Amino acid sequence: MIDNNLRQREKPEPSESNASIPWYIWTLVFFAVLWGVGYLSTATLERDLSMPDMSATVDGGQIYAGNCAACHQGSGAGLPGMFPPLANSEWVLGDPEVLVQILLHGVTGEMEVAGVTYNGMMPGFGGQFDDAQVAAVASYIRNSWGNGAEAVTAEQVAAARAATADRQGPWQGQAELQALGSH
Ligand code: HEC
Repeated sequence: MIDNNLRQREKPEPSESNASIPWYIWTLVFFAVLWGVGYLSTATLERDLSMPDMSATVDGGQIYAGNCAACHQGSGAGLPGMFPPLANSEWVLGDPEVLVQILLHGVTGEMEVAGVTYNGMMPGFGGQFDDAQVAAVASYIRNSWGNGAEAVTAEQVAAARAATADRQGPWQGQAELQALGSH
C-alpha cells in the first residue's frame, strides 16, 4: 500500500505539465504552417509558369487575331490599296514553302495579289514565332474565309527556316518570291 500512496502523491505533477503545450509542439506547428504556406505558393507559381506549356497545341486563329488581323483584317480581306487580301490569295493557297518564307522574313516591294499590285511592307515573324506557331498560322489562313488548302506542318517550316537561315531583311517583292518557288 505504500506504493499506492506514492502514486497519489505524484499525480498532480504530470497533470500540471499537461496543461500547457510544450514549446517544441509550438515549434513543430510553426514549421508545419511555414511549410504549408511555402508549398501553396510554389504550387500556385508552378501552375502559373506551366500555363503556356499546357496550351501546347498552338491556336493559329489566336496568332492571326493578335499579329495579322490589324493589317489583313479579321475577314482576311485586307484593306484596298494598303494591305493585300489573304482570302483567295494565290500566295496563301499556292506553294506552302513560299508562303512560309513570307511569314518568316516578311516582304516589301511590288507584288500582285488577286489581280491588284501592292507595294507595301510586311514584317517578318521568324524571330518571334517557333516552327509550330508559323505552321499554325499558315494552316489557319489556308483554311479560313473560304480558302481550302493543305495544312502546313512544323517540319515544313523547320526545313524552310533552315534553307534561308542566312537571309537578312524582307524578300524584295514578288520577283524574289517567285524565284524562291521555282528552285
Ligand atoms: C504591318 C502590317 C502587316 C502585318 C502585321 C502583317 N502583314 Fe502580311 N502583308 C502586309 C503587306 C503590306 C503585304 C504586301 C507586301 C508588299 O506589298 O510587298 C503583306 C503580304 C502578305 C502575304 C502575301 C500576299 C497576300 O496577301 O497573300 C501574306 C500571305 C501575308 N502577308 C500574311 C500575313 C500573316 C499570316 C500575318 C501575321 C502573322 C501578317 N501577314 C502580318 C502587311 C502586314
